[in-house]
Amino acid sequence: MFAPAVAPGALATTELSALRAPVSFSKTSTASTTKEEFVKITIIGGSKGTGAQLASLALQAGHSVTVLSRSGNAPAGTRAITGNATDPVAAAEAVAGADVVVVTVGGAKGVNHQRAAVTRTIIAAMQAAGVRRLVVQSSLGAGDSASALPAPIRLITQLVLGRALADHNEQELAVTTSGLDWTVVRPAGLTNKVPSGTWTALGATGEGKPYGSIPRGDLAACMLEILDNDSTHGSALSLSSR
Ligand SMILES: NC(=O)c1ccc[n+]([C@@H]2O[C@H](COP(=O)([O-])OP(=O)(O)OC[C@H]3O[C@@H](n4cnc5c(N)ncnc54)[C@H](OP(=O)(O)O)[C@@H]3O)[C@@H](O)[C@H]2O)c1
Repeated sequence: MFAPAVAPGALATTELSALRAPVSFSKTSTASTTKEEFVKITIIGGSKGTGAQLASLALQAGHSVTVLSRSGNAPAGTRAITGNATDPVAAAEAVAGADVVVVTVGGAKGVNHQRAAVTRTIIAAMQAAGVRRLVVQSSLGAGDSASALPAPIRLITQLVLGRALADHNEQELAVTTSGLDWTVVRPAGLTNKVPSGTWTALGATGEGKPYGSIPRGDLAACMLEILDNDSTHGSALSLSSR
């Protein structure tokens, strides 16, 4: 579907154990795709944050982008659907005809485990529609990535982000048991700094300890690369600028 913007050799291992991708924003947007390679991407939660940046990058690369959010806001040029992604009707409308679905939703005040509830609804809609490719934005500290964090950071992360991480853990469980072609990305702290075009993606067995931060723009660029990368299917990748 996509022309790879990173050297194929960098992605040759199934574990994607230590991918360092010196890919610039502009390189992603000028990837040498043909019209036939453009795909339909649905972003659940693309009205702002990482999802909106991913929507913009995907549009620049020539892809067709649908965004589902409660506000109905979305980058110009996308197909915006207004609705709550826990609503099966809205979810079905958003994933219909998609080649790839990306979940980038955050939490909501007064709603327990919203990320997990959204993700379960989207998975059910994908299964009903026969859409197989799913990429989900979780967080560093979720699942088995917690044990890879240095002890002091693990403690602070749990204290500060305990509720969010519990939601992400439940979200990841829904993803990993979905039977879909899934990839989970677990970014370090998100910033709105100017993207550097460089990031590190580590699988569970990768060497190194990603922590610190990553600009949302770099995360979005990395996710765009991952969408069509078969070697990431069934993997949870920790992402940081380090
Ligand atoms: N902040 C960090 O340092 C950090 C680090 C690691 C991971 N994360 C995780 O990364 C994820 C994304 O964070 P972000 O800051 O990039 O994005 P964000 O600013 O939190 O945006 C979340 C998006 O989800 C949409 N949304 C929320 N609930 C929805 C619902 N029920 N139905 C449809 N759309 C919904 C929002 O749009 P509407 O409000 O219009 O619905 C918005 O577009 C979060 O899950 C967060 O936990 C954050």
